Amino acid sequence: MTPHDVESPAAADAHQVSRRHLLAGTAAGAALALLPGEIAHADAPGTFGGHPFTLGIASGDPDATSVVLWTRLAVRPLEIGGGLAPRKFPVHWQVAHDEQFAQIVREGTTFALPEQNHSVHVTVDGLEPDRWYFYRFRAGSELSGVGRTRTLPAPGAPTASFAVAQVSCQNWVTGWFTPYRDLAREDLDVAIHLGDYIYEGAITAVAPRQGTIDLPAEIRQPANTLERYRLRYALYKTDPDLQAAHAAVPFISVWDDHEVVNDYRGAVDLGTAQLARRAAGYRAWWENMPTRMPAPTGPDMRIYQRFVVGDLLQLDMLDGRQYRIADNHPTVSRLGDEQEAWLVDGIRGHDTRWNVVALGQQLGGVPTNSPTRNRIHRAYQDRGIQPVFLVGDMHWTIVQDLLLEVPNADSPVIGSQFMVTSITSTGDGPGNPATKAGWLKNPWIKYVDGYRGYISLRYTHAGVDAAQHNVDFITRPDAPGWVAQRFHIEAGRPGVQLV
Ligand SMILES: [Fe+2]
Repeated sequence: MTPHDVESPAAADAHQVSRRHLLAGTAAGAALALLPGEIAHADAPGTFGGHPFTLGIASGDPDATSVVLWTRLAVRPLEIGGGLAPRKFPVHWQVAHDEQFAQIVREGTTFALPEQNHSVHVTVDGLEPDRWYFYRFRAGSELSGVGRTRTLPAPGAPTASFAVAQVSCQNWVTGWFTPYRDLAREDLDVAIHLGDYIYEGAITAVAPRQGTIDLPAEIRQPANTLERYRLRYALYKTDPDLQAAHAAVPFISVWDDHEVVNDYRGAVDLGTAQLARRAAGYRAWWENMPTRMPAPTGPDMRIYQRFVVGDLLQLDMLDGRQYRIADNHPTVSRLGDEQEAWLVDGIRGHDTRWNVVALGQQLGGVPTNSPTRNRIHRAYQDRGIQPVFLVGDMHWTIVQDLLLEVPNADSPVIGSQFMVTSITSTGDGPGNPATKAGWLKNPWIKYVDGYRGYISLRYTHAGVDAAQHNVDFITRPDAPGWVAQRFHIEAGRPGVQLV
């Protein structure tokens, strides 16, 4: 295919077409050519004094015609300011059909601003539905690595199959993010991150990573200010397997508690004075995630949102922390009234084969009566929809049938829930056998696993095929991974089977 054959997006203009000709002549891997208009504000080689893409690249929040690209410039990522001058830097981005960038689809220049910690969020629109793309960035003469991303099938479009990974809880102190290695190699469409992307506590020991990294004193302090949260994200994003996963597949993410502070609920456990901490945590999350949401300006930020994948899947991403003022109150929603109403409206309007709900912490404990959960389950049952809940938080994989009213074992099964284990948190598996045996006494719980890992789920019109992926250890690098268990959900038959 020559550059003339590239399908032009609606917004393409003569400038972009000529740009494609120009780039088609550059050798793969060479620095991107500069247009005359760009030279005036481009940086000369060497401006950064080092490679500025130390934190990797990412994409996220795809819809049928657009996706968000992310990077953050830092030559010394573990320093406040990332070793960059406190000024804006132009960053060029490209999206192509091919890994060699011979067929450029979209490109442009944006700025990495110091007030955003030199992070970059680009919403690339005018893309084709249900298609994979490659992307990269350039800053000065430095090129980033190449990432893969994709758009979703258009809402309602016939869609045979869609595969997601489900991940949660990555404590850098505990060990290496090795489960991401298999995830990056697997044939997936998106990764769903359920929070605890960072842990905010003081870093007092780094045994698993001893000798591999020099930690400045500031980064060991509890993350409780904007600069310290920023440093914590930088530290986490130096992990090579996490970077590989982000480059391999777009992420759709929500936070849980540790992006601010352990076990906080709404403002209840923080107090008014501590809302500044929540604002800092939310701001740093925004700066470091490939999110489509606008930057927060205070302690509030909406992150709950809905994705529709053709005629196959509706994915509702929920925020289980920000609006929670009570856990199991009879009338006060655990999700906040507004978010719960939004979810239930979406259940009523739902017209895909599957409805997937994802959030950090499940809507109630294993043996707990949760009025919020009961109301939501009732809404699914009334509509005749079998939901699949994806949750995290507990550092155990617990796969279960969803009862209409937990823990009433006599109530009907209305769907399934996959609680995913952690990437590293809690340390090497297999976990306490007595704890595992205790959960398995509940007849609706089908599988429990205390190794570190992730879950993958492939949705088709006939059913869901899922797998528990484990690694032997995370306290040393390079652990081998294996599939510990496979699961199946048959369309039209609520409940999960071990296969
Ligand atoms: Fe966690």
